[in-house]
Amino acid sequence: MKIGVLGSGIVGKVLATGFLKHGHEVMVGTRTPDKLKEWFGQNPRGRTGGLDATTQFADVVVLAVNGTVAADALRAAGAANLAGKIVIDATNPIADAPPVNGVLRFFTDINESLMERLQREFTQAKFVKAFNSVGNALMVNPQFKGGKPTMFICGNDDAARKTVTGILDQFGWETADMGKAEAARAIEPLSMLWCIPGLLRNEWNHAFKLLT
Ligand SMILES: NC(=O)c1ccc[n+]([C@@H]2O[C@H](COP(=O)([O-])OP(=O)(O)OC[C@H]3O[C@@H](n4cnc5c(N)ncnc54)[C@H](OP(=O)(O)O)[C@@H]3O)[C@@H](O)[C@H]2O)c1
Repeated sequence: MKIGVLGSGIVGKVLATGFLKHGHEVMVGTRTPDKLKEWFGQNPRGRTGGLDATTQFADVVVLAVNGTVAADALRAAGAANLAGKIVIDATNPIADAPPVNGVLRFFTDINESLMERLQREFTQAKFVKAFNSVGNALMVNPQFKGGKPTMFICGNDDAARKTVTGILDQFGWETADMGKAEAARAIEPLSMLWCIPGLLRNEWNHAFKLLT
């Protein structure tokens, strides 16, 4: 597939590298191409472009910018360019305020997620929440003694969730499909829970697993 990653921060680079490793074509959309010089040195098959060109190129878009600017980045990507495309939404609605006792603060509340807001504005894009509930170092084929970790996903389009499940298979995850976009109200705060051991005790090497 042609993957367009919006954002050249750590998550954007890690996921772009993962998609290249799994044989996809990848373009990283950035406002600051200089940030990607080192990444290009290590990933010569990768490409870069503006947010709009990257979205035009993509079959599947990966949203990897700060939650506070997610809507701005998608506006710059262009609503028309996003129409009909899957958007893998790795963002979290983390507020600028500092954590309290290791607990991140969100600018959303428990009855409305960031992904629902984005889906409401960009009605023709097919958002699927994924990759938001684990640290970037563990996003691509993580190895745990406890076996394959679980990625919780949701989104309104059934076929889009199936496509993302296929991507997660490649990336070494089992997928727990939580249904429609409202489930992001539960999946986004998993990032809060995931970060607590890190922020309190500098422990970052864990992931969630759903036992049945
Ligand atoms: N860090 C993690 O381990 C982790 C794990 C799970 C989920 N997440 C989520 O993933 C997202 C990205 O996190 P990150 O750690 O990669 O952040 P980061 O390193 O700070 O990178 C964020 C990127 O956002 C882009 N950006 C900022 N303002 C923008 C604007 N107005 N328009 C367009 N793009 C803009 C910048 O890209 P350019 O300068 O290239 O344009 C920047 O590189 C966040 O929502 C975070 O909550 C992070």
